[in-house]
Amino acid sequence: MKTVLVTGGDGQLATCMKRVVEKVENLKFIFKNATDLDITDKKLVTLYFTENSIDYCVNSAAYTAVDTAESNSELAFKINSEAVKNLAEICKENQSILIHISTDFVFDGSNDQPYKESDIPNPKSIYGASKLQGEKEIQLILKEHFILRTSWLYSEFGNNFTKTMLKLSEERDSLSVVNDQIGTPTYAVDLANVVLKIIKESSRDFGLYHYSNKGSISWYDFAKEIFKQRDIKIDLKPILTKEYPTPAKRPAYSVLDTTKIKDTFQIEIPNWKESLGVALNKL
Ligand SMILES: NC(=O)c1ccc[n+]([C@@H]2O[C@H](COP(=O)([O-])OP(=O)(O)OC[C@H]3O[C@@H](n4cnc5c(N)ncnc54)[C@H](OP(=O)(O)O)[C@@H]3O)[C@@H](O)[C@H]2O)c1
Repeated sequence: MKTVLVTGGDGQLATCMKRVVEKVENLKFIFKNATDLDITDKKLVTLYFTENSIDYCVNSAAYTAVDTAESNSELAFKINSEAVKNLAEICKENQSILIHISTDFVFDGSNDQPYKESDIPNPKSIYGASKLQGEKEIQLILKEHFILRTSWLYSEFGNNFTKTMLKLSEERDSLSVVNDQIGTPTYAVDLANVVLKIIKESSRDFGLYHYSNKGSISWYDFAKEIFKQRDIKIDLKPILTKEYPTPAKRPAYSVLDTTKIKDTFQIEIPNWKESLGVALNKL
């Protein structure tokens, strides 16, 4: 039986993975959170891999606080780049396959059409730069890898935009949400299912892939649909990014072209509205 180690085991994506693998047979999943297995501790991770026979490592551990990263660059790079380099080296030594999650924030947002895997990244934030460096480390060290870039992750678990909007709607009568950043929400359960498919099929189509739900919208459109589907009446105002300054710069456009992952793994990608409906039913 193949053994799959999932790092960052208490995070949003890892929690979705826990749910999608519940009934999976013939694969053993081990979830390790930041306390059990700190990925920045190379000795510990090396020991863990040698004591347990790990076939796949799904790295869902990350420093994900985009704004805080601007003033905590050292830690962001330590977790998103140095630790990822270590993981790639350890995977290589142990003949393990690494499935790593990256982000649309590696792009600068100057495109006017969906970003392909071949487009040149140019991150505008420390978070984006640290994640891009992590990708590069893997590509240099380990052939047996899948890097899945995703965008605007949300689910019934962890902290995310959908849950924040629902919470704010209980506290306020009106809300302003940016309308000039365009991207695609991605239901983390959909992404978890893709990760599972890659493992189940023992795919050897290694490389870089873009995965998000289908469609492209602004954060304002996203909020509007959340409230519509939940029948919440609130005064929702569209605003410009410059009216809501944040420490980290975000790409104005970060829609991902998902043709490669669809064609390679023969998957149907749900539309963002449809997946939002599924998530809201679970919340
Ligand atoms: N969320 C998004 O909108 C989004 C968008 C695009 C891409 N992504 C990428 O998707 C992946 C999953 O994101 P997510 O939403 O699941 O993030 P998340 O909920 O923040 O989960 C990340 C997990 O990593 C853990 N972690 C942090 N440092 C660690 C360390 N040194 N060792 C082990 N674990 C550590 C965190 O634990 P603590 O909480 O205890 O620190 C947290 O449980 C990440 O690679 C992220 O960059 C996310």
